[in-house]
Amino acid sequence: MSFEKEVYIPEHVAIIMDGNGRWAKIRGLERLYGHYNGVRAIKAVVRSARKIGIKFLTLYAFSTENWLRSASEVSGLMSLYGRVMLKYARSLINQNVRFETIGDLEKLPPMLCDRIDSLKARTAHCDGMLLTTALNYGSRDELLRAINRANEAHVERFSHWKEFEKYLDTSGLPDVDLLIRTSGEQRVSNFLLLQSAYAELYFPKKYWPDFLDDDFFEAIHEFQRRQRRFGKVIDAG
Ligand code: IPE
Ligand code: IPE
Ligand code: MG
Repeated sequence: MSFEKEVYIPEHVAIIMDGNGRWAKIRGLERLYGHYNGVRAIKAVVRSARKIGIKFLTLYAFSTENWLRSASEVSGLMSLYGRVMLKYARSLINQNVRFETIGDLEKLPPMLCDRIDSLKARTAHCDGMLLTTALNYGSRDELLRAINRANEAHVERFSHWKEFEKYLDTSGLPDVDLLIRTSGEQRVSNFLLLQSAYAELYFPKKYWPDFLDDDFFEAIHEFQRRQRRFGKVIDAG
């Protein structure tokens, strides 16, 4: 697919990677095979985002509610993410991509925390794109932790949103410009609720493992067809 670089590229794209379980189910496979095959799509969107100059890419990998799944799915996901972080490091460095996380890491298995720390350290010098992975992340949990941090810093009153957002996990990230959720579901499931206040929403039908380079580029094209207003009156004429 051709891609016009000169038109407006979103600065921050966030993705709810959904549909792995259904992808596996229609093939008569266990849900975990859907997650395994989702890794290909992760690599495709990182590569594509990097190619067109997106600066911030944020992926929803595990929500605060996903602990409610079976123990075998949860532990399978944790070990998959651990393996990916180890094997994917070299590729991220080659692409000049820095790795970060949002979410409460304290509740994750120590093996995964070690891999996360190591990948953050190994990519700390990369400045081509920031890849943020949301792990044990939920907007409501993030909000509570932000309020507690502000209390610990003895902040009594906020006058501006800019002052408060420093306490969120996403401190330093710009607002989301484009929020994509694959699999046809049209909901945000506790992901970046505050940061997506003016995001454009896009809900492609494909299940996550099938969402590859051209699907990502199509999402960017769709974003470029939208008119953003931010509450103002924009005269198109
Ligand atoms: C998204 O795919 C991946 C994670 C939540 C980790 P799902 O596992 O939610 O797949 P569906 O929605 O059941 O098809
Ligand atoms: C959101 O998807 C979480 C991730 C993609 C990591 P879910 O599949 O968990 O969301 P619901 O339960 O369908 O809303
Ligand atoms: Mg789902």
